[in-house]
Amino acid sequence: MVRLTINGRVVQAEKGEMLLVVMNREKISVPAICNHGAVEAFGACRLCTVEITKNDWNGWKNYVTSCLYPVEDGLIVSTHSETVINLRKTLLDLHLARHPHSEHVRQWAMEYGITQTSFEEIPDGDDCILCALCTRICDRMGFAAISTVGRGHGKEVAPPLNEPPPDCTGCLACAQCCPTEFITFSDSGTSREIWGKQFEMITCKECSKPILTKDFAETLSKTRNIPADYFEVCDECHRKATALTMGKISQWQREDTAS
Ligand code: SF4
Ligand code: SF4
Ligand code: FES
Repeated sequence: MVRLTINGRVVQAEKGEMLLVVMNREKISVPAICNHGAVEAFGACRLCTVEITKNDWNGWKNYVTSCLYPVEDGLIVSTHSETVINLRKTLLDLHLARHPHSEHVRQWAMEYGITQTSFEEIPDGDDCILCALCTRICDRMGFAAISTVGRGHGKEVAPPLNEPPPDCTGCLACAQCCPTEFITFSDSGTSREIWGKQFEMITCKECSKPILTKDFAETLSKTRNIPADYFEVCDECHRKATALTMGKISQWQREDTAS
């Protein structure tokens, strides 16, 4: 275990834990828009930057991205020092210039008092902040169906050749973790469309609710050894069936009480 001080409060952590993980556990909040518990930290947004020092650093300070910084014994952390706040303001100011139409970016900037960017606005800027959460989560799921392509201002997330990605299973993990809701999809009940690819949905044989795409179910069956018929019934109906079974079991007379 190590002991460190965050905003004047002494906390304990496991050696090697990332500072952001410790702060989240201690309910100490910093903006961390490229971070997600399902994937490794990446350090794209820099907004989680904090100020660190130690008693024996003779007043020297450093600025580190907390999602990638392992805690150390004796660390003294300030999450909202003047320098840190100014750094976050500059980053958010830049984001606002690049994504002037994004409600999410506007909201994050507003939290730091920025309502108008001081940089030149890119009028047709889209809402993708290039946090790479979507590509990382897709890779993590084992699909690698999308990736970042291009450089500089032309950099974007896209499927290979900008065509419906052959390896996409329509699982929606990318869209669900996108912090700006840039990734769109449509669900009609029996079909789904994402990244320009159409998917057939499996619907629950008990309640007819759409469960997941046929492609995703087949992939899970093959790669995770889940029996194919598991996906014939939705989670809710699975739970109802289990509750009914438990109810019946509780009615059975125990052998030692039966006369
Ligand atoms: S919907 Fe497709 S692109 Fe998105 S995470 Fe799932 S497999 Fe990857
Ligand atoms: S599409 Fe969304 S998740 Fe992917 S890089 Fe852009 S903002 Fe991040
Ligand atoms: S959360 Fe984005 S750099 Fe740490």
